[in-house]
Amino acid sequence: MNRKFPEGFLWGAATSAPQSEGAQYEDGRTPSTWDKWFELEPEYFNQDQGPQETVQVYKRYQDDVKLMSAINHNSHRTSISWNRLLPDGKTVNEKAVQFYRDYFKRMKEEGIEPIVNLFHFDMPWWLMERGGWEARESADHFAHYAKVAFQQFGDIVHYWTTFNEPIVHVTCGYLADYHWPKVHDLKRAVQVAHHTCLAHAKAVIEFRTLDLDGKIGNILNLSPVYPRSERAEDLKAAKDAHAIHVKSFLDPTVHGTYPEHLVTLLREHDLLPETEAEDLEVIAQGAVDFLGVNYYQPIRVKEVPEAERHHPAQSLEDFSRHYDWPEKRMNPYRGWEIYPKGIYDIAMMIKEDYNNIPWFISENGMGVAEEERFIDASGEVQDDYRIEFIHDHLEYALQAMEEGANCFGYHLWTFIDCWSWLNGFKNRYGYYRLDLETHERTPKKSAHWIKDVIASGELPELNHERK
Ligand code: NOJ
Repeated sequence: MNRKFPEGFLWGAATSAPQSEGAQYEDGRTPSTWDKWFELEPEYFNQDQGPQETVQVYKRYQDDVKLMSAINHNSHRTSISWNRLLPDGKTVNEKAVQFYRDYFKRMKEEGIEPIVNLFHFDMPWWLMERGGWEARESADHFAHYAKVAFQQFGDIVHYWTTFNEPIVHVTCGYLADYHWPKVHDLKRAVQVAHHTCLAHAKAVIEFRTLDLDGKIGNILNLSPVYPRSERAEDLKAAKDAHAIHVKSFLDPTVHGTYPEHLVTLLREHDLLPETEAEDLEVIAQGAVDFLGVNYYQPIRVKEVPEAERHHPAQSLEDFSRHYDWPEKRMNPYRGWEIYPKGIYDIAMMIKEDYNNIPWFISENGMGVAEEERFIDASGEVQDDYRIEFIHDHLEYALQAMEEGANCFGYHLWTFIDCWSWLNGFKNRYGYYRLDLETHERTPKKSAHWIKDVIASGELPELNHERK
């Protein structure tokens, strides 16, 4: 197998504004739902760790950019904080403009291509009070914010993305308690998803109107869906789960249309959202130039027993149930399945069903609880498990590329251990370890390893069996 990466392959790591910036209320920034939620109910957050400090990128970005090039990265993804750039949704915050311009410029000077995302789960509180994504007006507010960002930074930033994992704020906030407003209502969730798609498309329209020298994409968490068996009932569960978890945002993002099977399911269950006449035309204009693919673990499903199924559906559990594959290999330090071949299967799906659109691995990685266990006498985290994880996913990505997949980069989640929503700092993911007291950043073993991989342009053999 070819182990060489193509010329110009993007190497880097991903983070987001709410998880890394800190400086929560400084220089005019107003709260997002996360800041407010932590204020209201800190007990929801692991060890009472809120978003107020996190990595302090707002104050330390000059040095952090140097840490990126110290390990040969040539790209970096972060997001803009909507509530920092437009604290009231209208007025441009000059301090925010200065910060982001300088941050992105410094990246460029170090040979780092900034990949800038607009929404990473951080709904401004003022807009949440008006209904958040449930309110149709949110799509227009988002389009305005996107336009301001393109105008302010479009001369520096070449790669833009609208959303990070849009299905996550839908399912975690409207079908579970992991995001604000933590309601459990399928109908409202579908409405939120529709407004998110509208918001995405409207931002793409703004981008095309400005005719900038750049590309626009969307970052989706895509997982292959595997059925328990070839029985018709399991296959149907997998087909439904694929429509809900994969095609729901992928089809509008690449084809500019909603997937037929999903529309049929929603109609059957009386779950179609409220729409206006022009919506489908707007969504048709949301087709992107490239995709970011976040991949951590596959989705494994089985049928829902007839007796347990509601009609109309009340939750996603009415379409498919999680299947516990007996052969699965688990990340022992966090509890997610590790299945590197999933990246190959996604690559082939994009090639076959989505015009082989250019894409990059925008997140992949391994969360580890109590990672201090792996610090050696020299003070370095010996994260061989992470090296193996990255290696195995890259190996499958290379195999897919050899078979024609259009993959142009690999980003680890994350660069410096950062704050992870309700989990606080429970699971560490970075190439750099963060000391929570001093905020010192120390490269882990994986940082040195990836530095050498990038320098050689080739994936080394690891002496272990690929699973
Ligand atoms: C997905 C999200 O984009 C990011 O915010 C999160 O922290 C990581 N995955 C790890 O769970």
